[in-house]
Amino acid sequence: MGKKSKSNYRDGDSFSRRAKLEGYRSRSALKLKELQKKDHLIKKGMSVLDLGSFPGGWSQVSKEFVGKTGKVVGVDLQEMKAIEGTSFIHKSIIDLETKDFDGILPFDIVLSDMAPNISGIQDRDNAQMINLLDKVEHSIENFLKTGGSTIIKVFQGDSLDHAKMFIKDHFLEVKIRKPNSSRPNSNETYILGINLK
Ligand SMILES: C[S@@+](CC[C@H](N)C(=O)[O-])C[C@H]1O[C@@H](n2cnc3c(N)ncnc32)[C@H](O)[C@@H]1O
Repeated sequence: MGKKSKSNYRDGDSFSRRAKLEGYRSRSALKLKELQKKDHLIKKGMSVLDLGSFPGGWSQVSKEFVGKTGKVVGVDLQEMKAIEGTSFIHKSIIDLETKDFDGILPFDIVLSDMAPNISGIQDRDNAQMINLLDKVEHSIENFLKTGGSTIIKVFQGDSLDHAKMFIKDHFLEVKIRKPNSSRPNSNETYILGINLK
């Protein structure tokens, strides 16, 4: 193992340990905190739709920022242990319907930290990511309010290009972020859409 990969592993471990120490269910929670520190998209009193929420790190962080008056709804294929003050829908985002969100719609912000099961075959992974992005875009079109925002995980390359086209078309502002807490050897990136037209 070379020097570089050793230090990458150390970085990864320290972020995971920090997330655990701070009481978060995932290392991913730190990525959303970093994005918040820079862009402040989640605000007090907002309603947040957290697509692909298991095990719950992003829902925990979202709840901290929206406070008592805000609402957080997680959705995942996997059953998720309850987080106080938030709700959870156990289904694929493909099957979401307006009636799942009685009294909440439209959301102020839609988050997606989803990724397909990674095969390691880049073309296949990119195609599956784009397929998933189409579903996220569908949720944005149906459940996000005009003026609302989104944060979406993508892979550098085709899926980033695909998401960028959608965001540029539908939002007034687009930003691209790679948090320090994202594994350096991962090609994940976050795209932000601000102010839905
Ligand atoms: C990286 S994890 C999310 C981690 C989460 N943000 C956190 O901080 O704990 C991605 C999740 O997306 C979910 N997922 C993938 N495809 C999905 C789909 N079609 N519908 C709902 N959830 C999906 C997976 O089950 C997985 O739990």
